[in-house]
Amino acid sequence: MTSVRIAVDGENFEDDVEPRTLLVHYLRDVLGKTGTNVGCDTSNCGACTVHLDGRSVKSCTVLAVQADGATVDTIEGLADPSSNGDETAGWHPLQRAFHTEHGLQCGYCTPGMIMAAADLLQENPDPSEDEVRQGLEGNLCRCTGYVNIVKAVRTAAAEMRGEEVGA
Ligand code: FES
Ligand code: FES
Repeated sequence: MTSVRIAVDGENFEDDVEPRTLLVHYLRDVLGKTGTNVGCDTSNCGACTVHLDGRSVKSCTVLAVQADGATVDTIEGLADPSSNGDETAGWHPLQRAFHTEHGLQCGYCTPGMIMAAADLLQENPDPSEDEVRQGLEGNLCRCTGYVNIVKAVRTAAAEMRGEEVGA
C-alpha cells in the first residue's frame, strides 16, 4: 500500500492505496464519488473523464499514485455548493445546457462529456460546431447522435461568454 494525498472537489483526502489502483476506482470505491462512470476501462469511451490539475484526463488511464499531491475535480464538484438545495440555480452552465438542450438520454456518458467540455471551453471559449466535435472526440455517446451534445456545449459557451441564451 502507498499513501496518497489528493484534493478532490475541494476536499483534502489522504488514503492508502494499492500501487495498481486506478484513479477512477479510487474516486468511486474509496471516496464514493460514483458520479464518475466507468464505461470501458480501456481508455476508449471517456465516461471516466475528470480534471487532474485543471486538465481533463481519462481517470481509468491514471493510477491513483500518479495523482498524489494533485488536485482532482469531478462532476460532483462542478455545481456551486453554496446553492445546494436550490434545484438548478447552482449548476454549471454546461450542466444547465445539457439539460435544456437535451444533451443526454441515458446519461451514462454525461459526467465525462461535461468534464471534457469544461476543459475544451477553458481552451476555446467560442468553439465552432466542428471544434466541439473534435474536442470531444475521445468521449463516446451511444444514445444521442451527438447533435444535442454539440448544441449544449455551444449554448453553455455562449452563457459563459456572458451572452443571453434562450429563455
Ligand atoms: S472508462 Fe475510462 S475511457 Fe472508458
Ligand atoms: S446519453 Fe447514453 S451514452 Fe450518452
